[in-house]
Amino acid sequence: MTIPQLLSSLLSKALQAVLADALPEGVTPAVTPSNDLRFGDYQSNIAMVLAKRVGMNPRQLASDLLAHIQCSDFELELAGPGFINFRVNPSFYAARMDALRSDDRLGVALASDPKSIVIDFSAPNVAKPMHVGHIRSTIIGDSLSRLARFMGHTVISDNHIGDWGTQFGMILWGWKNILDEKALASNPIDELLRIYKEVNLRCKDELGMLDTCKAELVELQAGNEENLAIWKQCIEVTKRGLEHIYDQLNIKFDYWLGESAYNDALAPLVDDLIAKGIAKKSNGAICVFSDGYHKPQQDPLLVQKDGEWLPVPAIIRKADGGFLYATTDLATLDYRIDKFKADSIWYVVGIPQEKHFKQIFDVERMRGVEGDFRHVGFGSIMGKDHKPFKTRSGDTVSLQDVIDEAITRAEKVVEEKSPDMPAEEKVAVAQAVGIGAIKFAELSQNRMSDYVFDWDRMLSLSGDTAPYLQNSYVRVRSIFRKAEAAGIQADSAIVLNEAAEIHLARLISRYSEVVPSTLEDCRPNLLASYLYELARAFHSYYEACPVLRSEGVVRSSRLALCELTARVLKQGMGLFGIDMPERM
Ligand code: ARG
Repeated sequence: MTIPQLLSSLLSKALQAVLADALPEGVTPAVTPSNDLRFGDYQSNIAMVLAKRVGMNPRQLASDLLAHIQCSDFELELAGPGFINFRVNPSFYAARMDALRSDDRLGVALASDPKSIVIDFSAPNVAKPMHVGHIRSTIIGDSLSRLARFMGHTVISDNHIGDWGTQFGMILWGWKNILDEKALASNPIDELLRIYKEVNLRCKDELGMLDTCKAELVELQAGNEENLAIWKQCIEVTKRGLEHIYDQLNIKFDYWLGESAYNDALAPLVDDLIAKGIAKKSNGAICVFSDGYHKPQQDPLLVQKDGEWLPVPAIIRKADGGFLYATTDLATLDYRIDKFKADSIWYVVGIPQEKHFKQIFDVERMRGVEGDFRHVGFGSIMGKDHKPFKTRSGDTVSLQDVIDEAITRAEKVVEEKSPDMPAEEKVAVAQAVGIGAIKFAELSQNRMSDYVFDWDRMLSLSGDTAPYLQNSYVRVRSIFRKAEAAGIQADSAIVLNEAAEIHLARLISRYSEVVPSTLEDCRPNLLASYLYELARAFHSYYEACPVLRSEGVVRSSRLALCELTARVLKQGMGLFGIDMPERM
């Protein structure tokens, strides 16, 4: 049990004793870490929450509760209008630390109700650039997958690539007429993009070009063999290029079920929606309109204009018979429930698609399809000028370029810090530092806000960056190497005396609370800022509490705390897919 869970159950028992039959049903007292340690480690406002309902003065209720809690592990205190503050005794932390030493999970309990969760992330489009927006989806989605697996859920990661769409008309023509085979072999993603861009330009300038491309698309959709073969090859080379990127990022997908995988399901799906009376014809198109289930303010199928609520239907078949992004997403959702038995589906996609997902989930509700469906949205990445992040020439920045530059810059950091490191190790460390820097810069942000992409900051050895945390880890590990060389072991129980070591233990104990809540809210930044705080606490501890220069049980205890710190840092960063080198 985490400390808040423990305190919450103590409070529950006290509530029963104090209020007996007057206790409202289903009350779980919330216990949260205090913002200010002067008020103790944790606090609860349950007395204030309940006082009115049970007709008591909150301070009186709090004081009655305190009188019913007997526990030598915590000191309790009544504060302000009725807060209950808890101070955890150092001996309790010491015992926790000892327990964690033999616990692989460092105190993090498995989820009590494991679920099957499909996580839909990355999902770039074939022949279109995988740009920085996809960076966010890729990195956030991967870390949520790792976190959910660690918590004991069954995770199905699915890369729903955009492998079917109008861009293929232009690509087909380009492939047949202006393809550079060599470039395709060396960098397929860029070559397909080049073709797409060039044909796109030509369509604007040359009369009839657009129709020629459209005709190619129609042929593809009608099953023309040559076009199908080219299309397949486009997907294959794109996948190969993407796999290289994902390898560098150490990201794997269980499935790559792109949009095209659902082509055959679209027509029957639309027919079914019509037959059930959920969809109907409107101006030739097939649409789903609001069924009035929600209040207008919450209805994704309505929009307010000049004080009136107007319909914004989900279009699932165009008047020309073509299907849409929404149709594919409905079919995809069905598949995930049928085949993967998904309880929950998380879509890690930018905020601009919020409306789209709300509509999809609402249509599913009308069809009676149940599950916990979440749009895990995120903001944009900005350049230093606070405008959308672009290259100097104004192009969108490709993910491959970002990775390459991160590694090049990390090489310089490593070179400066450890010029004597063997060349091979330098390469590996630069890889971990460069990739780690991109990932941590992403994951330490509140995903809903925009953030500024700043190379210097993310690779800095100070501040909340991957290199800072990696460097902290390296420092802890070096203590170990020295201890080992001197034959010193951490072989006695942990004792906590100094404020700095108590604080370090307090934070290590909190890891078991932070990991579950990070996943619950899909907010990796909670874990990121925790890890940063832990690393900072370690540095203060190291200044205040000599480890190798102390003796006996104190030295052994301090060494054990170092070891726990190192393990939490490594495991926590591992949940972000960030490697921690032993030296740097
Ligand atoms: N390919 C889409 C894009 O780049 C993202 C797909 C997200 N997943 C989904 N099921 N719609 O915008």
